[in-house]
Amino acid sequence: MDKFSIATVVLACVLTVCVGQTLSFGRCPTVKVQQQFDINQYMGKWFEERRFFAIFEAGMTCVSAEYTLQDDGSVKVNNTGYRWLTGKYSSAIGDAIVEDPKEPAKLGVRFSPSQPRGDYWVLETDYSQYTVIWSCTQLSRFLNTQFAWVLTRSPEGVSAPTMSRIYDLLKGYGINTKNFSTTEQDRSKCPGR
Ligand SMILES: *[C@@H]1O[C@H](CO)[C@@H](O)[C@H](O)[C@H]1NC(C)=O
Ligand SMILES: *[C@@H]1O[C@H](CO)[C@@H](O)[C@H](O)[C@H]1NC(C)=O
Repeated sequence: MDKFSIATVVLACVLTVCVGQTLSFGRCPTVKVQQQFDINQYMGKWFEERRFFAIFEAGMTCVSAEYTLQDDGSVKVNNTGYRWLTGKYSSAIGDAIVEDPKEPAKLGVRFSPSQPRGDYWVLETDYSQYTVIWSCTQLSRFLNTQFAWVLTRSPEGVSAPTMSRIYDLLKGYGINTKNFSTTEQDRSKCPGR
């Protein structure tokens, strides 16, 4: 690494990354997204079943996402989770857009107008049971930061064979599924559900 690359990485670390994200070496893996993505069928409520570590979700359980198509074609995003530390639910409201109509399964999402959009790529969904979401940012030639989520329509998740097929899909792209943790969705541990 030359001096400039090192400085860039260090700066990226200071600004965002080292604090809250997990760094991986090398290039973002090459992935395929869902073909013929139908955003209408994708709208509505989803429950977070698996996630990679993300600082903005640290300590959050009972996480759900609600997607609503707006008149202008953008998607309102409402992510809600329970923090056991405060004993309260809190929501992050954002919006997602399809950035290139030729690639409808590649969305960009942000939770503040001043933020750049983060990738929200739908790798695979059947709309009625599960969706697999991928986000990878190349920080430098040598480092990337990765997020993955499996959301399900039911808080009970999906069958073991379906989950194992999802893991196989990700492993096929060289994504480390060991980085997944399971999100608590048990009704008895999600107050008010
Ligand atoms: C977000 O979703 C939560 C949980 O369903 C709900 O209580 C809250 O009112 C929603 N917020 C907005 C702005 O839609
Ligand atoms: C995945 O786990 C490995 C081994 O624990 C770790 O080195 C790597 O940084 C993790 N990556 C992500 C994106 O969480």
